[in-house]
Amino acid sequence: MNTLVRFERDQDAAVIVIDNPPVNALSPGVPEGLAATIEQANTDLAVRAIVVIGNGRTFIAGADVNEFGKATSARYLASLLNAVRTVEESAKPVVMAIHGSALGGGLEIAMAGHYRVIAPSAQVGQPEVKLGLIPGAGGTQRLPRLAGVAKAVEMCAFGAPVKAQEALAAGIVDRIVDGDLRTGAVAFAREIAAKPVRKTRDRQEKLANADPAVFSAAREQARKKMRGQTAPLAAIDAVEAAAKLMFADGLQYEAELFAECLRSPQSKALIYAFFAERAVTKIPGISSSTPTYDIGRAAIVGAGTMGGGIAMAFVNAGIPVTIKETTPEALDRGMNHIRRNYASAVQSGRLTADSAGQKLAMIAPQITFDGFDQAGLIVEAVFENLAVKQQVFREIDRIAKSDCVLATNTSSLNIDRIAEVTKRPDMVIGLHFFSPANIMRLVEIVRGQATRAEVTATAAALAKRLGKIGVAAGNCPGFIGNRMINVYGREAQFLVEEGASVEDVNQALFDFGMAMGPLAMFDLAGNDVMRDIAGVSGAAPGARRPLVLPQLCALGRLGQKTGKGWSQYDENRKPSADPQVAELIDHSARAAGIERRGITKQEIVDRCILALVNEGARILAEGMALRASDIDVIYLSGYGFPAWRGGPMFYADANGLPGIVKRIEEFEQRHGPALWTPAPLLKQLAEEGKTLCTALQYSQK
Ligand code: NAI
Repeated sequence: MNTLVRFERDQDAAVIVIDNPPVNALSPGVPEGLAATIEQANTDLAVRAIVVIGNGRTFIAGADVNEFGKATSARYLASLLNAVRTVEESAKPVVMAIHGSALGGGLEIAMAGHYRVIAPSAQVGQPEVKLGLIPGAGGTQRLPRLAGVAKAVEMCAFGAPVKAQEALAAGIVDRIVDGDLRTGAVAFAREIAAKPVRKTRDRQEKLANADPAVFSAAREQARKKMRGQTAPLAAIDAVEAAAKLMFADGLQYEAELFAECLRSPQSKALIYAFFAERAVTKIPGISSSTPTYDIGRAAIVGAGTMGGGIAMAFVNAGIPVTIKETTPEALDRGMNHIRRNYASAVQSGRLTADSAGQKLAMIAPQITFDGFDQAGLIVEAVFENLAVKQQVFREIDRIAKSDCVLATNTSSLNIDRIAEVTKRPDMVIGLHFFSPANIMRLVEIVRGQATRAEVTATAAALAKRLGKIGVAAGNCPGFIGNRMINVYGREAQFLVEEGASVEDVNQALFDFGMAMGPLAMFDLAGNDVMRDIAGVSGAAPGARRPLVLPQLCALGRLGQKTGKGWSQYDENRKPSADPQVAELIDHSARAAGIERRGITKQEIVDRCILALVNEGARILAEGMALRASDIDVIYLSGYGFPAWRGGPMFYADANGLPGIVKRIEEFEQRHGPALWTPAPLLKQLAEEGKTLCTALQYSQK
């Protein structure tokens, strides 16, 4: 018997305890242990019924994702299927006792049981699509038998978990157990011990008269909500098969679709992205034993777009904040924005009026520095101007307690120039939040030359507490994300100057999978903001510069906020082509002697995406990113890059670096070396037959 699964006896009940901390994942050994203990219970004459329960904070939180990429994945999968089969075939009734989460393979095991009881706070789900997969151990066949096809399609194709109450209403579980789960589950097992065992696979009542419209509607929704992804469609096909085929055939069909998904580049990218997100916390010089500062209260300077969003992010995570502005009017503006935000959350039912009120009460608005001496963290979010920021840092340096972390939300300025005006540059760090800061998950953690390890560790822990992804970035102009977006945006602008329309460029990248096209992104972020980012990151001396952006700014066409930018926007912010912009582009290009030509969709995608790749490789070689996957995490969580492509670095690897280098060399030929020399690291890795994502992990400067 292995130690991952324990067999215990409670008089006439067997209690099988899964004990694989932290989340009882189905690591190798767990499926085998489960099958063995079920068999043991069946041969134990004193046992009348069986309870399966998880030790610690959860039931089985899922399959072991690590196992999927390995050469042994077929054997692993067979062990899962065997465990599921053994549970279902048990002659003695099996009651699954769920607390925490039963997700993915965890729910599949649970559904193989003959009954399920659940703690009120628990949830169940089939989130495999998030990894480009579908349930592969019978989930798509058993779930519709318990919950009906509509619910099964929703859960398998979109991956959202379902809470205990809803699971009960849907028929996924049989009872909610208040109080001690194990006691309740054993009592339940005794109640049903004498009843004949009923297997989920034999249940047909919810499959009869399945409405075919469910499937077509789900496909349409999947194409919209999970644009470009194949797994959601496969999941819908598999659930549809449950309604049409015999159980064994449905299971076979599910297995084929699962194997196809597992082989697909999309699941490789999504599984890579899953691990990439977990790797960002590994920062050289920082470990779990690095002490962190206790933040307690936070204070924010500036209640503009970012300051307000950061304040909401903090109070949403339970951190009270003081927020300071320069004038009562500016403070009112900022606070009104925050109030409107919470009001709309209440209106849409995302928040109760009570909790919105509580959150608002945690924000202390003021125009003085009163109370700043109590804060464990001060975040500066004033105008993007070095002199203004330095002045703020001089003041907070005077007031803040000695162990207060001083952070700047600058999106481009040099952290060291800001830190040097204080007497404690070691306590200063960049926390680059993204807009809207209460929503966007990305935070670049930018260390200055003097930043102490404890301050970096505090920033990383804070990001986690805020529910965000903190990625370490080097202190270079634009850090990682904006330095790359600058060259991406530059190419988008050059493409329109060379003859593509604004709509062509936006559509090509939208179809590639980006959340929006590059010029649509300019219009959303503000053309003035994008111009400033470009100004800081700079272009090589003598290099070609975009012609149109400065003119749009001069005309007040700042984007959505002024109703006009690269496109024009109606009152619902719906864009349409603006002939004036087309004319402006045409005129500027001709005046500059730029040859206008037809441009293919492929060229649009390659120019923009390979600009990201090439700059990313430079950033990596300079040590401004710790690893290629950090760059990808930034692009997935902050810039709308499609997760199923893994991120720009993974995309380059997946397409083959030699081909990428060759394409960049073509661009170099055509547009000159100032814009398009292949990054030396790319060339080197291509020649050595290596990839970015497995290349040396560079140390951060
Ligand atoms: P904003 O113009 O909306 O807000 C700045 C606020 O700071 C204004 O309300 C201003 O009154 C206030 N302020 C100026 N000096 C102050 C002082 N001495 N004390 C207190 N308040 C003062 O600007 P936004 O967009 O919020 O940007 C703030 C910072 O965040 C900038 O460094 C910007 O680069 C950065 N950032 C902006 C992003 C964006 O998308 N807007 C994204 C990421 C970073």
